[in-house]
Amino acid sequence: MLSRVMMVRLMGVALVLPLLTGCFRKQKPEATTLKPVDPRAWVDEHTLSNADSVLVRHLHLDIAVDMAHHQILGSALWTINNTHKQKELILDTYDLTIDSVQVDGHKVNYVLDSPIKYLGSALHIPISDNVQFVGVFYKTGTHARALQWLEPQQTHDKKYPFLFTQSESIYARSWIPCPDGPGIRFTYTARVQVPPGLMALMSADNDDVLNDTGIYRFNMNIPIPAYLMALAVGDIVFKGVDDRTGVYAERGMIDKARWEFENIGRMVGSAEQLYGPYRWGRYDVLVLPPGFPIGGMENPKLTFLTPTVIAGDRSLVSLVAHELAHSWSGNLVTNATWNDFWLNEGFTNYFERRIMEQMMGENYADMLWELGYQDLQNEVAAIGADNRDTWLKLSLKGRDPDDGLNSIPYEKGCHFLKMIERASGRDRFDKFLVKYFEHFAFKTITTETFLNYMDTVLLKNDTVLRKKLNIDEWVYGPGIPQNCPRAGQELFSKVDAERVKFLEGMPAEQLAFVRWSAHEWLHFLRGMPANLKPEQMRLLDNAFNLSNTGNSEVADEWYLLALKVGYTPAYGPMERFLSTVGRRKFLEPLYQQMMKTPDGAKMARLLYAKYRANYHPLAQESLDRMVMNIVQ
Ligand code: BES
Ligand code: ZN
Repeated sequence: MLSRVMMVRLMGVALVLPLLTGCFRKQKPEATTLKPVDPRAWVDEHTLSNADSVLVRHLHLDIAVDMAHHQILGSALWTINNTHKQKELILDTYDLTIDSVQVDGHKVNYVLDSPIKYLGSALHIPISDNVQFVGVFYKTGTHARALQWLEPQQTHDKKYPFLFTQSESIYARSWIPCPDGPGIRFTYTARVQVPPGLMALMSADNDDVLNDTGIYRFNMNIPIPAYLMALAVGDIVFKGVDDRTGVYAERGMIDKARWEFENIGRMVGSAEQLYGPYRWGRYDVLVLPPGFPIGGMENPKLTFLTPTVIAGDRSLVSLVAHELAHSWSGNLVTNATWNDFWLNEGFTNYFERRIMEQMMGENYADMLWELGYQDLQNEVAAIGADNRDTWLKLSLKGRDPDDGLNSIPYEKGCHFLKMIERASGRDRFDKFLVKYFEHFAFKTITTETFLNYMDTVLLKNDTVLRKKLNIDEWVYGPGIPQNCPRAGQELFSKVDAERVKFLEGMPAEQLAFVRWSAHEWLHFLRGMPANLKPEQMRLLDNAFNLSNTGNSEVADEWYLLALKVGYTPAYGPMERFLSTVGRRKFLEPLYQQMMKTPDGAKMARLLYAKYRANYHPLAQESLDRMVMNIVQ
């Protein structure tokens, strides 16, 4: 059986003339001030590339994936246009070995700078004025931050190896030499060779069936930024949902996955009703093995998802609504720099909840809003209400853009939009958003461009209203502004009442939990007092078997509470959870909680030593710091 997954033969790398489709135009960069005079100006501090002055139009990727040696090797052929007569093209790379570089088919001497922390090494390629093609022959390194190589036992089916990429925010450069900034868009085609018997998928038009040769071809004819480049390789099969949506998953997972995502076709329709046509053709989802470090990733045409969203009752599908919403906010209208990250995530969270409201009703969406508000409060409390990182407009210069990856851009961002929705009225706000997505489609914008557009189109330059809404305080100020909206508490107030009864001694079986959703359970658990006794945890566990819940969100909250109050019977199930699940949102709070006491820290180090290999390189980086005190 293993012969199907034997090492791939190194293939000859053919340069295929790419299609000259799509066009990229980048605005002139100028120094960013807080509110620039020219709202289109920006500087991206996280790319070393000069693709703002050399037009990079198209990428043809020709790569082989060596599953046995954990390496991608091949070539990236860039079609460029040197209209500004630059002397060189600079590409981002991270831990790549460059074998050779060709300009219009001729070998040239290039310079690979020494690496800069987080950013990697700039690759300098000399070019003439009328250059057309730049080809880079390369291999990935062992520290490729975008790649997670899984051994068969780390997959769901445990039979074949698996590879997936996670390029956001600046990791595309660790598997493709590219201009790696969200403000730079290009089309791509690809030829990918994998071991025969395995399937390859990309953020592009995909074959939905396995082929015998192991050679797959892809085409993405809509310009996208590098952070949306994606590849997955494994024993993956497909089941359609309707004529434009479907589900990919490991063979043994496909039926469960297909059931869970029964409604994604309707979901796309619902999103379109809100904010205009879905512009990407197909919308498919791919369920990854449990080591996937995040909940989901909005790779165009093909959302990548954690398997922990499969709860068996469709209770966590708001995550799909989120990734789908990125097809408008993020993939269509893209943040120009990672300092403007809230434009991607805040809009998407807002849009996600509007989709869920449309599909499940207002009370359901209010639960998502309230849990999000709690996340926002907790984040602000954790990092400090004055912290610069609590502004919507971030300042990530010289830092890892992942430093901005917390609840602020998501929750402060979407609450800001909800505040504006309430102030302007839902109808007007919705019409404004439809216009916004239309106006900036396939463009890259800064926070200031958005604010200017909103001033003109929605607020009609009413400076009194603008002041009343505290817009500057929201965007360029810390903490949670006073006029932060709060959702209705219809369902959660009932949960609060049950919690009070339980704490007053009512037997757990008598709680009115029967029809509770995962969200109600989360709220029930989050509201428990610090002095909760292990005995009370035991009563709940006996009644509801929470230690073995199949719902990953509830499990995570339950284990966190178990650690806080020292309820040891949950530790065994928690270890099973930590042994397979690689989602950082779950791992990091649990390990962090353990690190708070000496005994807990001992347990954390033991568990981490056992399961570190199962975690994604980026999760390893943060947990190395947290659990092992290793600073790189
Ligand atoms: N685009 C993000 C994931 C991301 C952001 C990866 C920045 C790397 C850097 C994705 O859309 C996302 O937000 N995922 C969330 C789920 C969501 C429901 C909040 C996640 O993974 O938890
Ligand atoms: Zn998102």
